[in-house]
Amino acid sequence: MRCLIVGCGYVGLSLGAELVRLGHEVFGLRRSAMAESELKAAGIQSLIADITKPDKLAGLPVGFDWVVNCVASSGGSVEDYRQIYLQGTRHLLEWLAPSPPKKFVYTSSTSVYGQTDGSQVKETSPTGPVTETAKVLLETEQVLLGTGGSRGRSPHPTVPGVILRVAGIYGPERGHGFKQFLNNKARLEGDGSRFLNMIHRDDVIGCIIAALKNGRPGEIYNAVDDEPVSQVNYFQWLAEELGKDLPPSVPENSDENRKRGVTSKRVLNRKLKMELGYQFKYPNFRKGYTAEILRLERAGELHVTPDER
Ligand SMILES: NC(=O)c1ccc[n+]([C@@H]2O[C@H](COP(=O)([O-])OP(=O)(O)OC[C@H]3O[C@@H](n4cnc5c(N)ncnc54)[C@H](OP(=O)(O)O)[C@@H]3O)[C@@H](O)[C@H]2O)c1
Repeated sequence: MRCLIVGCGYVGLSLGAELVRLGHEVFGLRRSAMAESELKAAGIQSLIADITKPDKLAGLPVGFDWVVNCVASSGGSVEDYRQIYLQGTRHLLEWLAPSPPKKFVYTSSTSVYGQTDGSQVKETSPTGPVTETAKVLLETEQVLLGTGGSRGRSPHPTVPGVILRVAGIYGPERGHGFKQFLNNKARLEGDGSRFLNMIHRDDVIGCIIAALKNGRPGEIYNAVDDEPVSQVNYFQWLAEELGKDLPPSVPENSDENRKRGVTSKRVLNRKLKMELGYQFKYPNFRKGYTAEILRLERAGELHVTPDER
């Protein structure tokens, strides 16, 4: 297949390398020309453009069978989100419309679910994003599926779109809570009963490839591992593995948490496993973090800061 990966960062770069390994022709799009050597080393042909600027897209080659949009705004303001996710997706769809791909996969986020009661969440559960940024991600989904979007635009899908609602990504060099824990910066929120939903980077890649092959256009799939875990159980496991104490507790309703729009829900992956036939390499965080701890140990890079409490 002739594949285009829009946004060749943490996920996109490894995805591209895997697609190359599987024998596909892979193009990777990002803004920075400095990234060209990185893409080339992975066997990916680089396209340098900014998807917020439609005139830059117009000059690129077309005719892709599979397109994956996995750009990220790397934090950023709500306006950045609107530009990169929402407008960027609109521009991609307009650009691709004359020769639409067979499949277009977009990596949305489980943050579009706003549940705070620890309930189980599947794809048909109500969405209700808590933060303005997550609202933009939901609007982007609607634009891709042709089910809405602001200003009454795009009532019809222009490509066979498939949405993956991806949980918190961790893996080599990634994992915010884990790094915080190693550096004694982690905090338990209240009694730590809030649920975390995670997925290893390699499984994100596996889910994307499964969605490209088997995803039904117009469908949404939760891309999350088998085992939502409470924050306290997550830290308890890390504490035992790394010989540290549990992090100190802070009040649950801190300003910081309110700002982050913290939710608590157990996101289910049954639909993804049933329909896409995907089997997880790391079905729970223990498997994934065991691999990461081993990798760090072997590289001599596991630095556990002693806790002086
Ligand atoms: N991280 C998580 O826990 C998480 C959770 C749920 C969903 N997701 C989604 O998963 C996907 C992959 O995330 P990631 O962690 O791999 O992101 P990442 O490492 O930050 O990579 C994002 C890539 O997008 C490119 N990019 C940003 N703005 C662009 C623009 N305007 N035009 C073209 N390229 C642009 C960046 O390259 P340049 O800077 O060179 O342009 C970079 O290569 C994203 O869609 C993200 O929203 C992530």
